[in-house]
Amino acid sequence: MASSVFITFNGQSCESQQGESMLDALVRAGVALSAPCGGRGICGKCRLTLLKGKVRLLKNGAEVKHAEVKTGDSFCACRATALSDVIVSLPDDAADFSASSLADMQTGKEHLHAGKTGRAGIGIDIGTTTVQAQIVDLDTGEVLQTFSALNSQRSFGADVMSRIGAAREGKTRELFTAINSQIEEILRQCISNWNLSCIEQCAVSGNTTMLHLFAGVDPSAIGEAPYTPVFLEERHFEGRELSLSARHITLLPGISAFVGADIVSGLALIDIMNRNEDSLFADIGTNGEIAVWKNSEKRLLCSSTAAGPCFEGAEITCGMGAEAGAINRISFKKETQSTDWFQSGTLCNTTLFYTTLDNVKARGICGAGLIDAISVMKKLDVIDETGALADKYAPDGFPITEGIFITQRDVRQFQLAKAAIFSGIKILCKTAGLEPENVDTAYIAGGLGFFINLENAENIGLISGGLAKKAAVCGNTSLKGAVKCLTDSSFLSRCREIISHSGAVDLALNGDFSETFMENICFF
Ligand code: FES
Repeated sequence: MASSVFITFNGQSCESQQGESMLDALVRAGVALSAPCGGRGICGKCRLTLLKGKVRLLKNGAEVKHAEVKTGDSFCACRATALSDVIVSLPDDAADFSASSLADMQTGKEHLHAGKTGRAGIGIDIGTTTVQAQIVDLDTGEVLQTFSALNSQRSFGADVMSRIGAAREGKTRELFTAINSQIEEILRQCISNWNLSCIEQCAVSGNTTMLHLFAGVDPSAIGEAPYTPVFLEERHFEGRELSLSARHITLLPGISAFVGADIVSGLALIDIMNRNEDSLFADIGTNGEIAVWKNSEKRLLCSSTAAGPCFEGAEITCGMGAEAGAINRISFKKETQSTDWFQSGTLCNTTLFYTTLDNVKARGICGAGLIDAISVMKKLDVIDETGALADKYAPDGFPITEGIFITQRDVRQFQLAKAAIFSGIKILCKTAGLEPENVDTAYIAGGLGFFINLENAENIGLISGGLAKKAAVCGNTSLKGAVKCLTDSSFLSRCREIISHSGAVDLALNGDFSETFMENICFF
């Protein structure tokens, strides 16, 4: 074969070197192809369809003889190399982030008509899965527009450890470029929409790894003992230092390698230290971070659980992020009249109803929908208390609607995640000298947003001990904190004070963790 060939997709082309995986070639060209397992050939989500040309499968980086893909077949881009110029079609959620558009970006409807504003700032939350931003009028504090898109680093893996792994392989620059280009697109869109001469202030929140990569700093040290980040303190940049169209950029400070600025931002936003209560804060997203505030001792304990990315839809067969077409509620009845409910057919003599984000045809299921699905399956005895699927559904999974189902493996992934989170809650409470029952308020933040059904979350043991009744669901507090930082001059000092009262607890070193985890893995 020629030493390089061209891969054509969506009317564009990129070059691929001999023997190179097609995933690597597409990522280098700026295609944000979802690759939750980081190119290990496990998740099957980086699938392309061959329209023309010759493609051969790879095993352990080597071509497999006689393993050529047929035209019309789909294959994993991370496990294939192009032998000739090829034409492929990409999955729906892939986006070209080098293009001058925000094709995959949803914008909120705070203002339907963009226009001229005075001084503007932007708060940004760089989540491992999703990037969200809000542009704010700095004089009035009014939020003008919200942006949300999948993190374009997802081609390097779904979770923090995959991104760190990619950085260790020398891809820090590529990871930096991916997120930097995406943020610059958001800034340019804001400037254009609001006729701005510039964006004055930009406040950025995110976990410790995401902020390292945003600043172009190698996060490798976060991935191995003693897990020492290069920086945790707040950082200030001029926009030009990061090639971004904002005048001043502030990175919010974090607590540890795995309890980052996103948590500090949320804790400062709810002003956890000044509420005169014992409280719990749980951010349930790609990482499950937890903090417990013991008011009488003015002490904050924090930790991060190895929950995995299932609440963001990764590693779930029909999982997806909270995007248009994601099933986000499932119920035995149409619960609210203001929402359109779809009927899923009759299963176990019961009719199920579901809603989707943006009320469009279901494409997959997001974290909130998954919680409802597992709860419904438990109520219908489709799963037993160990999580085993009834024989009838074992081969093909439990169908939610056409093409969307929950498999035995999905249930197991969910069990691991929920056990990790609730074990973390229990151990942190115990370390603080509290029981979950004694917590005054449980603040639930993160990717599950406002759609989490607390009763279902309690039914399946994601949160228990009466926490559901004390829960305050507060959405993306990392983003809201970043926005607050733009207009509240005391916000950063609140962050510093929280950090000075905090202590990180390593759950892996806690002698009770394994036992607590096993206690919480079943459905009772
Ligand atoms: S199978 Fe290719 S990225 Fe997971």
